[in-house]
Amino acid sequence: MILASEPEELRNLLDEARRRGDTVGLHPTMGALHGGHEANIAKMAAECDTAAVTIFVNPLQFGPGEDFSSYPRDLEADLSRAERAGAGIVFAPSREAMYPEEPLVSVAVRKLADGLEGRRRPGHFDGVATVVTKLLALAGPCYAYFGEKDYQQLVIVRRLVKDLSLPAVVVACPTVRETDGLALSSRNAYLSPELRRAAPALYCALLAGKRAIDERAEREADPVREEMRAVLLREELVEPDYAEVTDPCTLEPLGKISGEVRLLVAARLGRARLIDNLSAGAGEG
Ligand code: PAF
Repeated sequence: MILASEPEELRNLLDEARRRGDTVGLHPTMGALHGGHEANIAKMAAECDTAAVTIFVNPLQFGPGEDFSSYPRDLEADLSRAERAGAGIVFAPSREAMYPEEPLVSVAVRKLADGLEGRRRPGHFDGVATVVTKLLALAGPCYAYFGEKDYQQLVIVRRLVKDLSLPAVVVACPTVRETDGLALSSRNAYLSPELRRAAPALYCALLAGKRAIDERAEREADPVREEMRAVLLREELVEPDYAEVTDPCTLEPLGKISGEVRLLVAARLGRARLIDNLSAGAGEG
């Protein structure tokens, strides 16, 4: 596995790969790699001839008071996980390599960033869109792998690629869960054993919402929201933030349910803020 730390190295390596006739996959991450990333990398390595992982904790997407400085960083562990999962290249630049000067131009996301995470974390998705644009510009034509766990990010990246005509095909990677349903996330590391026991409440809430729609044929969104919130509230250590029923493409909150919807929840558990989501209503014509 090749470790690159300069943007030009990544560009050259992937240009060379394409000249050899390889298909190129890119999985942008912020490191702290876990089983979910490993599954995404393994999928990318099975589907692409050259599989590149980027590791960069992007300061632009953290707000004041968020966990930028304490975000878990362990490059050695990340490199072994990436290699084990099948990555051929890891790009791990320094902050200076990515942003040699204060950036004066950035990407602004409208509408899709107004609700959910975007409402709680102003500027977050502009920061994500800016760094993803930079990474895709360095990578050139590629398959770009993003986890469904960050569903709003996935929807925004799809639209970013479309609106800015970036030469990438976005590939969604299914959420990987612990056996009790907790979605794997780097921020699970912040959970004490007690909070960890309470954390599957997010998935339970999503399943309750999905059952209401798929099994009881609930067609009003508000009772589904209430039911998901009630499940979150059953766990004393869980402070619910939102429990939403949205259109899967526009992320608009729905009044009536017909066809596929996306259920999304967010909650605070101690210092960790966890998010999760699930599709429902997809079986409907
Ligand atoms: O999902 C993440 O880890 C980050 O938001 C991303 C896409 C790597 C951009 O920094």
